Amino acid sequence: MNKDQKITCSNIWKLFGPDEKRVIKELDKSLSIKEVQEKTGHVVAVRDVSFSIQKGETFVVMGLSGSGKSTLVRCISRLIEPTSGTVKMDDVDVTKMSSRDLLELRRNKMSMVFQHFGLFPHRTVLENIGYGLEVRGTKKDERLEKSMQVLKNGRIRGLAQQLPARTFRRYATKSRSSKSACS
Ligand SMILES: Nc1ncnc2c1ncn2[C@@H]1O[C@H](COP(=O)(O)OP(=O)(O)OP(=O)(O)O)[C@@H](O)[C@H]1O
Ligand SMILES: [Mg+2]
Repeated sequence: MNKDQKITCSNIWKLFGPDEKRVIKELDKSLSIKEVQEKTGHVVAVRDVSFSIQKGETFVVMGLSGSGKSTLVRCISRLIEPTSGTVKMDDVDVTKMSSRDLLELRRNKMSMVFQHFGLFPHRTVLENIGYGLEVRGTKKDERLEKSMQVLKNGRIRGLAQQLPARTFRRYATKSRSSKSACS
């Protein structure tokens, strides 16, 4: 493996259904997704996907709605277990990791920003930002410093002590009024 390769996915398949492991073993891989669904009752969400991501590379997965992007990304950190195929990170086989190692991986090496807001309504903006560091066990001072830096970089330092609901209501109102000002 090239030492600059950070993540390598090989032949990832994800089937949703009651007996995915058996179905994948017996699957005629030349069938279309529709045919697989008709014959087996399983949904093929990811079909034989392979790629490598280099260190420092920005890698974009694009496709129509329902084409399997989210499922693929979740398979990389095993938030969803791939039905078959392997994921390697720094030459370590993620698909074979124990749940303890997987926890370490997700705390320190791999993370995911969800498509929809997953903010805690009872925590301030600053506390939401620092949550990942908190569960990782980072000390409070360091956590606050890093979280403030993120706020500063995003030029939203003034929102640190606000709750998300209030903050996003304000932003929604602002963006509505700037849209109407344009139209
Ligand atoms: N838990 C599930 N059970 C059954 N089918 C699922 C499940 N999750 C996703 N699917 C199906 O898998 C396919 C891929 O879905 P996925 O959410 O990965 O697509 P996507 O490319 O991320 O779509 P979008 O752009 O809308 O976010 C779709 O056909 C979807 O209906
Ligand atoms: Mg998606």
